[in-house]
Amino acid sequence: MDWDEKYQKGEAVWDKGAPAPAMKQYLSRHTTRGRALVPGCGRGHEVALAVEQGLDATGLDIAPTGVAEARAKYPHLAERFVTGDFFDPPEAMRDAYDVVLEHTCMSGLPPSLRADYRRGIDLTLRRGGLLIGIWFINPALEPGNEGPPFPFSVADLTALFAEGYDIVEDYVPDVAFPVREGRERVRVLRRTMGS
Ligand SMILES: C[S@@+](CC[C@H](N)C(=O)[O-])C[C@H]1O[C@@H](n2cnc3c(N)ncnc32)[C@H](O)[C@@H]1O
Repeated sequence: MDWDEKYQKGEAVWDKGAPAPAMKQYLSRHTTRGRALVPGCGRGHEVALAVEQGLDATGLDIAPTGVAEARAKYPHLAERFVTGDFFDPPEAMRDAYDVVLEHTCMSGLPPSLRADYRRGIDLTLRRGGLLIGIWFINPALEPGNEGPPFPFSVADLTALFAEGYDIVEDYVPDVAFPVREGRERVRVLRRTMGS
């Protein structure tokens, strides 16, 4: 998947122009502080939300054009957007975050890359830190569309973080982007294992 090409061609169809309503609701209800990382941040809406909510947030994305568009949309936050690979994060990002915010990064990845995603979380989130996710569970696909997004189930999510993480919160949110109602899940995990 050439993510940068999608941004270059104006085909970032996943982008809703605003942060995920369930992330906004969660952060407004839970005081969350410290350094936060948004992997696969795209045009940066969750980074802007996190900063608004008092987090010292950084977005990381492999697509330089996505990062450039995030900087253009949120120029006051430009330095917070970084181009790079979450599966092999820059040294400065390792073991450096109190919070990781997930929104449609994992669902953009084919199943074969989920272990790399988990490794990216392990490399960046400190022990005791929170992985706050709006997980796009079982996105229904049109016939012939093989993804992204790539469907995964609650059981897949549970299995991916079965070791080294505790579930802190888990619910189907009552707010969502119009086409995603009932297909998202808020699951917050606390990292219990050391690096
Ligand atoms: C489906 S898009 C979601 C973007 C954003 N989270 C949103 O909701 O608009 C997935 C994003 O993950 C980025 N991505 C994919 N693989 C990545 C990797 N290995 N490291 C960092 N970013 C990656 C893509 O460039 C893309 O911006």
